Amino acid sequence: MKILILSRNATLYSTQSLQRAAESRGHQVQVIDHLMCSLVIERNRPALFLGYEPLSGVDAVIPRIGASATEYGAAVIRQLELMGVFTTVCSESLMQARNKLHCMQILSRHGIDVPKTGISAGDTCAGMVYDQITRDKAVVKLLASTQGLGVILAQTRSQGLSLVEGFHRVGADVLIQEFIQDARGSDIRAFVVDGKIAGAMLRQALPGEFRSNIHRGASARSIELSEEERYLAVRSAELLGLPVAGVDILRSSRGPLVLEVNASPGLEGIEAATGADIAGKIIEYIERAKCEEATIGKGQSVKTT
Ligand SMILES: Nc1ncnc2c1ncn2[C@@H]1O[C@H](COP(=O)(O)OP(=O)(O)O)[C@@H](O)[C@H]1O
Ligand SMILES: [Mg+2]
Repeated sequence: MKILILSRNATLYSTQSLQRAAESRGHQVQVIDHLMCSLVIERNRPALFLGYEPLSGVDAVIPRIGASATEYGAAVIRQLELMGVFTTVCSESLMQARNKLHCMQILSRHGIDVPKTGISAGDTCAGMVYDQITRDKAVVKLLASTQGLGVILAQTRSQGLSLVEGFHRVGADVLIQEFIQDARGSDIRAFVVDGKIAGAMLRQALPGEFRSNIHRGASARSIELSEEERYLAVRSAELLGLPVAGVDILRSSRGPLVLEVNASPGLEGIEAATGADIAGKIIEYIERAKCEEATIGKGQSVKTT
C-alpha cells in the first residue's frame, strides 16, 4: 500500500513510529506537511498538490494534525476523502473532537458521564454559569487547548470570573468546568484502535500541578482498566467517529468521567509506558479496513454485473 502520513514534522516520535511500523510491513510511506498541500476543486475532480506535484495513487492516509492547523488540516483530509482515500481520522470527527464543547455535548447526549461544564456567550452570564457549576474552585479552559496549555485552575469564583473576562477580552471562548479534586492530578489515557483498547496509562502530574499532560512533565505508567473504563473509552471513541483515539478519563468518587477524546493522540508516552506497539496496531487496522473495502467493492461489482 501507499500510505500518506500528514505531519508538520517528519522527525516527531509519533510520525517516525508510524512510518517504521508501516515500512516494516512492506508499505510505501510518504510523510507530507499538510500546510504544504494545495487543493483544487472542480466538478467530480478533486485534486491535491504537494508543491507543483499532484498526489495520486494513495491508498490510505494517517492524519497527525496539530491544534495550530486544525481547519486547514481538516480541509486536506476532506479533499483526500473526496478522492476516495481511506483515512484513519475523518475530517468531521477531527473538527468535533478538537472543539471541547462539541465533544462534551456529543458524549453527554449519549449518557457518558463528564465533568459538569458550561460556557457563556459573553461576560454578562459568566457568573450565572459559574454558579451552576460550582461555588469555589473551577477549571477554566480554552475550547481548543492541547497539551494542557490554556487549562487553568481558578481557586475562587472571583478568580475564575476574572480569567473568563480576560479570555473574552482577547476574543477567546472558554469553558468553565467542575474541578475533579478526587483525581489528585492524575488521569487515564486509554488508547483505542478499531474498537479495542490498544494500551492504557495512568498519568500523574508533577507535585503542585493538576494537569497530567506528559508535555507538562507528568509521569506515566501502564495500568489495567476496569470494565467500566474500557467500555467508556471504546464507546467515547465510537461516538466521536474515531477508530484511532486517545480517550482521557478522570477517576472520581462518582465514577469515571470522560474528559476529552483526542483525534491525534501522541504515541511516545503510551508506547514508552506500556511497551505496546501501538503504531503497529494502527497499521494493522488500516490493512484490515482496506481488505474489507476490497471485499465489499468486489461484492458490489458482482451484484451489478
Ligand atoms: N475538570 C478537571 N478536573 C481535574 N483535572 C482536570 C480537569 N480538566 C483538566 N484537568 C487536568 O488537566 C489536563 C489537561 O486538560 P484537558 O482538558 O485534557 O486539556 P488538553 O487538551 O490541553 O490536554 C488533564 O489531563 C487533567 O489532568
Ligand atoms: Mg488532554
